[in-house]
Amino acid sequence: MGRKIAAGNWKMNLTLAEAESFISEFSTGDWPADVEVIFAVPFPYLISLNALAGNRITIAAQNCSDQTEGAFTGEVSAKMLDSASITTVIIGHSERRMYYHETHEILKAKVDQALAFGLTPVFCCGEPLEVREAGTHRHLVSQQIEDSLFHLDSEAFRRLIIAYEPVWAIGTGVTASPEQAQEMHAYIRGVVESKYGSFIAKHLPILYGGSVKANNAKMLFAQEDVDGGLVGGASLITSEFLQITNSF
Ligand code: 13P
Repeated sequence: MGRKIAAGNWKMNLTLAEAESFISEFSTGDWPADVEVIFAVPFPYLISLNALAGNRITIAAQNCSDQTEGAFTGEVSAKMLDSASITTVIIGHSERRMYYHETHEILKAKVDQALAFGLTPVFCCGEPLEVREAGTHRHLVSQQIEDSLFHLDSEAFRRLIIAYEPVWAIGTGVTASPEQAQEMHAYIRGVVESKYGSFIAKHLPILYGGSVKANNAKMLFAQEDVDGGLVGGASLITSEFLQITNSF
């Protein structure tokens, strides 16, 4: 284990008032100083939550545009996020890939936008159930990484965080077993090593996502190649997520 990262992805949940009271309450909690805590929150809340969060919590965006600026109604660019002092952005979540048809090519452009404006991309990869059942999940995940990330030079690549989120485990209550998570994380590290070498691969944070809860986080985070979690549902409950931040 390298860095220790507990990241919450709130998705499209909570009102502003609920979000503000969550962060106010959560920021009084205790977790080890070496655990990095991130909450990816809805766009309209970024600025006020960032002001509330204090320096132990990073407030992140859940998405950014593949364009810098211009006539793209409804989009939010990495340039805008940076101008609002946001440092981190999720890119390529499976829900964006599925519902908004984000292709490997689009995600590549989003990663470039984020890096160009100094943001840390949390790049998500992971296979749907039918791909896992067909036994081609390793191939798909390496394709996702190669097609959207392997154009980067080492200097850029080392700024990434990767999240492995098997789609069959997201919001289903079915978690990958610690062994399944470890196996895929080690595989991803190997894919990265083949292109960028062992130093960068070893230091790349790889988070696991998919039904991480307070009662399974310890087992998952204990795996050698699991550097933390990207947590959906359980990040909406203060006490539960606090327990997760204390599971390293
Ligand atoms: P759940 O933790 O609700 O399964 O969601 C995982 C996820 O999609 C985090 O990005």
